[in-house]
Amino acid sequence: MSYEIILADPPWSYRDSANAGKRGAVHKYRTLSLPEICALDVPGIAAANCLLALWWVPPMPEEALQVVRSWGFTLKTMKGFTWHKTTKHGKSHFRMGHWTRANTEDCLFAVRGKPKRVNAGVRQVIEAPLGKHSTKPPEVRERLVRLMGDVPRIELFAREAVPGWDVWGLEVESTIELGVQRTDKPRPKGGKRRARVIPWAGTGDFRGKNGQFGAFLAVFLTLVDFCSHVLRASSASRRSTPRERCSRRTTARTARPWKRGG
Ligand SMILES: C[S@@+](CC[C@H](N)C(=O)[O-])C[C@H]1O[C@@H](n2cnc3c(N)ncnc32)[C@H](O)[C@@H]1O
Repeated sequence: MSYEIILADPPWSYRDSANAGKRGAVHKYRTLSLPEICALDVPGIAAANCLLALWWVPPMPEEALQVVRSWGFTLKTMKGFTWHKTTKHGKSHFRMGHWTRANTEDCLFAVRGKPKRVNAGVRQVIEAPLGKHSTKPPEVRERLVRLMGDVPRIELFAREAVPGWDVWGLEVESTIELGVQRTDKPRPKGGKRRARVIPWAGTGDFRGKNGQFGAFLAVFLTLVDFCSHVLRASSASRRSTPRERCSRRTTARTARPWKRGG
């Protein structure tokens, strides 16, 4: 199955002072490292013409772009949608933030191929109340369908099943399986071999075969280094420098008792 709309809200792991307390994402659900997110085989489920709508976090725009590129998309705008968080009474929320009090979140748009917009009247800003931790306004899904039409679509890292959408995530009954990208494609001439991503179990241990080989190589080189030190030390004790030999001769001479008395 390939999708023409992919909506994704990754469980970014980032250094957040809130993570030290009880408010950070890490206390609410499992998070993934950047390489783990990048490695997901999103290119394998994207249609030739596909729109990616990706929620990103303001302190990590570069990481968001890395994900866009790793998934084979080209950025169109960092602000496809801007969600203005309100209270349930419709007032602007007064939230925590890194520099200013953050009361918006952004969803970037990126494309693969040339997906067609079918409605030019879809607005960017969504005013919607804050839900439970990290929950995004359902209106995003409706606006995406208005924008792109009733095309095959999927929500990644979803937390609820939604009619008309396939879903994938740890906290929902997923409609598809999503693996990791294989990167052992033929090497470009003269290019370096890229690490092959090992089957991924969400453990955060992403070293792969190359990592294991690297560890083995490090142990081996340490052993070689240690042995060469031992060998050098033992041969040095057997062989001495001319100066040492000279001082030994002097000592031996001065140690001759029959000469000392004259
Ligand atoms: C930012 S939340 C998504 C919130 C969602 N957009 C909503 O509106 O409710 C990220 C989600 O990714 C899920 N997740 C974490 N690790 C995952 C993994 N290895 N595979 C799939 N989903 C994962 C988390 O459990 C969490 O539900």
